[in-house]
Amino acid sequence: MAVTEDIIVAEQPELRRALGPLQLIGIGIGIIIGAGIFVSTGQAAANYAGPAVVLSYIFAGFGCLLAGLCYAEFSSMIPVAGSAYSYTFATFGQFLAWIIGWDLILEYLAAASAVAVGWAGYFKGLMADFGITIPAQFAEAPIHMSADHVLSFSGAIINLPAMCLVLGLTALLVIGIRASTNFNGVMVILKLIVVALVIIFCMQYVKSENLTPFIPPNTGTFGSFGWSGILRASGVVFFAYIGFDCVSVAAQEARNPQRTMPIGILGSLAICTVLYVLMCIVMTGVIKYTQLDVPQPVAVAVQATGAGLAWLVPLVDFGAVLGLGTVVLGLLLGQSRIFYAMARDGMLPPVFGKVHPTFRTPHVSTMVIGGFATLLCAFLPHDLLIELVAIGTLGAFVLVCASVIILRRTHPNVHRPFRTPWVPVVPIGGMLVCFGMMAGLPRDTWIRFVVWGLIGLVVYFLYARKRAKTPDYALKR
Ligand code: ALA
Repeated sequence: MAVTEDIIVAEQPELRRALGPLQLIGIGIGIIIGAGIFVSTGQAAANYAGPAVVLSYIFAGFGCLLAGLCYAEFSSMIPVAGSAYSYTFATFGQFLAWIIGWDLILEYLAAASAVAVGWAGYFKGLMADFGITIPAQFAEAPIHMSADHVLSFSGAIINLPAMCLVLGLTALLVIGIRASTNFNGVMVILKLIVVALVIIFCMQYVKSENLTPFIPPNTGTFGSFGWSGILRASGVVFFAYIGFDCVSVAAQEARNPQRTMPIGILGSLAICTVLYVLMCIVMTGVIKYTQLDVPQPVAVAVQATGAGLAWLVPLVDFGAVLGLGTVVLGLLLGQSRIFYAMARDGMLPPVFGKVHPTFRTPHVSTMVIGGFATLLCAFLPHDLLIELVAIGTLGAFVLVCASVIILRRTHPNVHRPFRTPWVPVVPIGGMLVCFGMMAGLPRDTWIRFVVWGLIGLVVYFLYARKRAKTPDYALKR
């Protein structure tokens, strides 16, 4: 079906178009609010930025807004499953598409696993609220990463709760998008209520002495407080915003994607930014930031307000368990759709592109992704995983921003239902902010990122290069 002068969008009726704007915003919020705000905020405040972690959130949110405006142009122009991977294939061909697709595999896999690990921490806390103790050796990763990034054995054996979560959600996704998004909707509302309760009830306990000094002085090491600490913390808390790009992954399942995609992406991003800023002020305002480097910093902050809000602590644990569960669900959904798109284009074996005859979901890719995510969350720690996710995602954002500028020059007449404003200022700003956050991340994260990229190149030259076929939604050159 030709929809524009230059773009052909294939009719691919296999995936059901079931999602409207509210459901897309729900998918966005469902993925965005998760382990980032519930786990990483405490770590970033305690180790890198102090109360100024709120500035890190604003900086990261600004970068996401700029990148989100670029995503919105692409997702309305090329509304197919696959997100940045599909946009790159449509515009620049298979090699760059492979690089981005490979990068996104890292992002979603590691992110789903990281959030499942964060979930396990709150789940353990919730069980403890009910008097049930889960032994640490079966609920934590056997590998530990110290604040200065040295890996060691933690003494734990395996993270069983995280594994069970990923396996259960994988089964749900195989059954179908409609059941999954309804479930997601209920969870999102419950999660928003808990976040709102924390903000409203804890705000009156904010003390100015906890917020002073607002920017603790740098210790002499790059990234350890001061302005460089704010930059490093923004690379860490950037994880908290990941998810708005997942809205675009669902484009092929959205009704009227030209209108609904930008609403879904920008709407979910805006709502979450406001909530994050308020949460940061509350968390660092009710307790000294040095005490926030714990697995459940939000619960610890609420506890610090005193006995008056004791009733809120189990609710926070409960909200985090539900909230982080929906995040894992959304990330697994996004990843399976990217696998599906890559298989359809010949980049991955065709079996990943199969759609289940009854459930009409890409069941094989969903199960494979679920299997890998289960393995990662069983053995790796949260902080190692989130930094990998951040660097991979920021890399994809930089390329998406660059693509908007290039495409405006090479294909000026393509119909763009949503146009990124102030091009090239917005995309260039997005590239600078996102690359700045990448640069602030530690060296060992860069090394893992480069190694993953090199493995990807080997796979490309051994498998994908000869088999890839240009998709029918690609732009005419
Ligand atoms: N933004 C998501 C989270 O914070 C990935 O868990």
